[in-house]
Amino acid sequence: MTDPREPKQAKGVFIKTYGCQMNVYDSERMRDVLRPLGYAPVDSADEADLVVLNTCHIREKATEKVYSELGQLKLTKQARGGNLTIAVAGCVAQAEGAEIMRRQPAVDLVLGPQSYHKLPEMIARASRAVGDRLETEFETLEKFDALPKTREADGPTAFLSVQEGCDKFCTFCVVPYTRGAELSRPVDDIAMEARSLAAQGVREITLLGQNVNAFHGAAPALTNEADWTLGQLVRHIAKVGGIERIRYTTSHPRDMDDDLIAAHGDVPEMMPFLHLPVQSGSDNILKAMNRGHTADEYREIIRKVREARPDIAIASDFIVGFPGESDADFEATMQLVRDVDYAIAYSFKYSARPGTPAADMFGQVPEEVKDARLQQLQQLLREQQTAFNRSKIGQTVPVLITGKGRNPGQAHGRSPWLQAVHFELPQDHAMTIPDLKGRIVDVRVIDASLNSLSGELVGEVAEMREAAL
Ligand code: 5AD
Ligand code: SF4
Repeated sequence: MTDPREPKQAKGVFIKTYGCQMNVYDSERMRDVLRPLGYAPVDSADEADLVVLNTCHIREKATEKVYSELGQLKLTKQARGGNLTIAVAGCVAQAEGAEIMRRQPAVDLVLGPQSYHKLPEMIARASRAVGDRLETEFETLEKFDALPKTREADGPTAFLSVQEGCDKFCTFCVVPYTRGAELSRPVDDIAMEARSLAAQGVREITLLGQNVNAFHGAAPALTNEADWTLGQLVRHIAKVGGIERIRYTTSHPRDMDDDLIAAHGDVPEMMPFLHLPVQSGSDNILKAMNRGHTADEYREIIRKVREARPDIAIASDFIVGFPGESDADFEATMQLVRDVDYAIAYSFKYSARPGTPAADMFGQVPEEVKDARLQQLQQLLREQQTAFNRSKIGQTVPVLITGKGRNPGQAHGRSPWLQAVHFELPQDHAMTIPDLKGRIVDVRVIDASLNSLSGELVGEVAEMREAAL
């Protein structure tokens, strides 16, 4: 007999994710809320009954990609006589809800980042063709409360959302408008999710938030303490059995407090990697961006972090061509990059986002100047990234195995510095790669390129074989 709680028929959902890790996490959560409705994930829109575009609004290019994808989906929907539900989620939905409906009538649902828990209800309503097609109100706490408490983990690494939104109002950025005010989850809820992930085999957790080090979640109920900081949260999550690695992203220099910096040195689970966006090396531009710190204050934070954890890899984000950026301002950015020496960094041309203060500033920089600066910056960043990766050649590093490598018999994993690592398993190896997923093994690095390391497994093999028997 069939279980009446089982969904009656399998339907396919295809979720296409654009933009940041926050969106990657949200897409996972959408999959979780849709599962009880009988929606199983599929690999393409062609196999799907429901397509969700989880969108990004941060740069104009990302927004335009969404409209072009929607044009394609409309054709698929027409070819199927209307049998396809199209939903637009994420920050474009938040910022341009009604506009999406107007520009692309094939869209059935639009929901902002705070409404994912309502997705099942909205789909039910859309299939009855009644009610709202638009759900973009801010209700962040309600969102955290309504999502399923246990998540299905997918592999040994997972994101865990600890805070949402941002109150910093950098003058170029849409996040405070699309994601709303900064809000942190209670520590007990986060710890419960961490335990559930660990029980499903997760070994590495990345604590996630738009402004993650602004975290100030309610302290565990038993402590009777005031809100906890990210440093306190990290120390707490480090005690969860099975969690061997902790990371966090993305942080703001203004919230890099001494306890968090100290945690990089004294919490063994804390991975030696810090993504600390600086955006520019010029004090004039940092001021116009409303970043709230100078280039030298940023240098000082990096110095302290390196003092706490000398081998730490530093990552960042940069914007070139912010309004008013002169050649000298850009040179100050290049100098900061030379001084810090990054392991990896993301760089973008400034893109004016309607409604943000910088969009109306004088001194918008011509496109060709932005192009030239971006090329120059990226050239330097690529050199630094390659040099950082090559500095690991000859070292034996602990690698968390995440799956199969490019070639048969090859495994793929992650170094403490967030580098992708490919390595061969010995021919006579008794365990298959799926058995090895989630293990941390020693790999001697033989070669390195811009994007990955390659190496060979050392020691431990016999021990692992024993464990398998
Ligand atoms: N133009 C260009 N880059 C931007 N970013 C955010 N807003 C803009 C914009 N308007 C970049 C910043 C941020 C990253 C996520 O995206 O570098 O850190
Ligand atoms: Fe945007 Fe600035 Fe907030 Fe980061 S800190 S999300 S760049 S407003």
